Amino acid sequence: MNCTSYVDRMATVNGKLARNGAFFMSNRKIFLTNRWFTPVYPAYKQEKLKQEDMKTAIIFTSKHGTTEKVVQMLAKRLTGNQVSIIDLKKEQHPNVDSYDAIILGTSIYAGASSKTMQRFCKENIESLKQKRLALFVCGMEPDSAKQRRELANAYPPELHGYAVSNCFAGGEFLFEKMNFFERAIIKRIAKTDKNVSQIKEDEVDRFVAEYEL
Ligand SMILES: Cc1cc2nc3c(=O)[nH]c(=O)nc-3n(C[C@H](O)[C@H](O)[C@H](O)COP(=O)(O)O)c2cc1C
Repeated sequence: MNCTSYVDRMATVNGKLARNGAFFMSNRKIFLTNRWFTPVYPAYKQEKLKQEDMKTAIIFTSKHGTTEKVVQMLAKRLTGNQVSIIDLKKEQHPNVDSYDAIILGTSIYAGASSKTMQRFCKENIESLKQKRLALFVCGMEPDSAKQRRELANAYPPELHGYAVSNCFAGGEFLFEKMNFFERAIIKRIAKTDKNVSQIKEDEVDRFVAEYEL
């Protein structure tokens, strides 16, 4: 299935429902139709791009390298897309407008996403809302309700409404990358001083499948 199928399905449903010049709502957006019942879509869905024409940027922050690993996994799976990988630590002001689609990824520390990612979202919120958007976080929180809360709080609430896919991708404890305080905290909380890897590959697969739908 290619990335325009959602648009096609909405066109069929809305084409039947719409009346001349009427506004009507989908589950996410308000659409305006012209007099021939052709729906007018938000900018990011106006062009019927083929998967292979879609320019996707995966924009991320990572402290110990795990989010970066997940980014590499995503890039491998997004075979049809032209994928650019952007580390916000190295490139602080990427031009969002040169991409059709954006995937954002950040890790969670003490319940919060990185300040760099928060700043980036705030500065680019209007542009991000025009893109095909997907959001993920990396973290080691074991409780699924808390995972959902961490994911929800990681990005501005407004952006979640625009995301076609999101996921809590799991994470890793890499003791050799931690500083003294982090090591002490994790030893006490996780009751281990050994590296742990819990990247959820099945969630990453689902995330990509939803994104490409
Ligand atoms: C000091 C410390 C605090 C952490 N706090 C949280 C947390 O509140 N919630 C969570 O889900 N994961 C937490 N984690 C786990 C990290 O999110 C996890 O190690 C992640 O894989 C790090 O990704 P990164 O290397 O890309 O920064 C914490 C890890 C450390 C070392």
